[in-house]
Amino acid sequence: MSNTKITKVIMPVAGFGTRFLPATKCQPKEMLTIVDKPVIHFLVEEAVNSGIKDITFVTGRGKRAIEDYFDYAVELEQVLSISGKRDLISSIRQVSEMGRFTYVRQKEAHGNGDAILSAAHLIHRGEPCAVLFGDDVVDSEIPALKQMISVFEKYGDPVVALEEVPHNKTNLYGIVSGKEVEKNVFQINSIVEKPSVKNAPSNLAVVGKYIINYEILSILKRLRQNFSEGRELGITDALKIYLKDKPIYGLKFTGKRFDCGSKIGLLEATVHFALKHKEVNQEFKAFLKKLSKKLKYFLT
Ligand code: UTP
Repeated sequence: MSNTKITKVIMPVAGFGTRFLPATKCQPKEMLTIVDKPVIHFLVEEAVNSGIKDITFVTGRGKRAIEDYFDYAVELEQVLSISGKRDLISSIRQVSEMGRFTYVRQKEAHGNGDAILSAAHLIHRGEPCAVLFGDDVVDSEIPALKQMISVFEKYGDPVVALEEVPHNKTNLYGIVSGKEVEKNVFQINSIVEKPSVKNAPSNLAVVGKYIINYEILSILKRLRQNFSEGRELGITDALKIYLKDKPIYGLKFTGKRFDCGSKIGLLEATVHFALKHKEVNQEFKAFLKKLSKKLKYFLT
């Protein structure tokens, strides 16, 4: 019998992050910061606040900073201890204690589906799991993944995160067509990869959060065996095949998403979270006020 309890999340972080070059030449894009926390910290918080503590990162060459970030920093703690900075010690300790972290390597970056497969041996037959890509940070009262878990618990089928995107941006996403079965929950009929405005079945885009099951992992395995050298394997390739026989649901989650894999998205996230940050928000607001006067001048 299939299990419906989700206890594990796979986080693929092995991509090259080419959109941030040269910054990502020698540091993971997931370690770029939003004010004072790296992007990946927000994703781990999302998982943990959704009740998932077993976190598997799929890393690759040049991603060691992620492992170090979620490890103890013993030498740093000693230095902080000498200068009596107890608060800082507990704040960095707390990062390492958020979850149980496992690291597997994707030997070559052959696509996000291939990355998920690198961790597939950790998922038991019949066991569902969550997948969070290292880009999509959502600010919401209830974590986006927790909202998706509620849908999974109700329907028992895989769930993808959906967001309405501007009609002229459908060519950047996987776009779904589907039937709304309850408010914001869609039973998906099809997924079209990066359609032109003309061919897009809707403006509902799949963003980087999924609840998948063992069968989807099996489809990915089969696909990889038959994949030609150099072709990238994406999770969508497997979802499309799964959809031919079985249902997949999409949840238009509540919350504000930032695509931190893009420069604009990371800038927007920085402004958004700086305005909510206890330490800097007042000063930052004053700065923005001043800037807005100048902007009026530049924009007119
Ligand atoms: P992206 O396509 O957004 O990441 O993959 P990227 O390739 O790093 O970014 P750009 O386009 O070159 O700037 C979505 C997620 O899947 C991971 C990425 O690290 C990211 O979290 N990924 C992608 C892998 O782990 N392995 C891959 O082979 C590809």
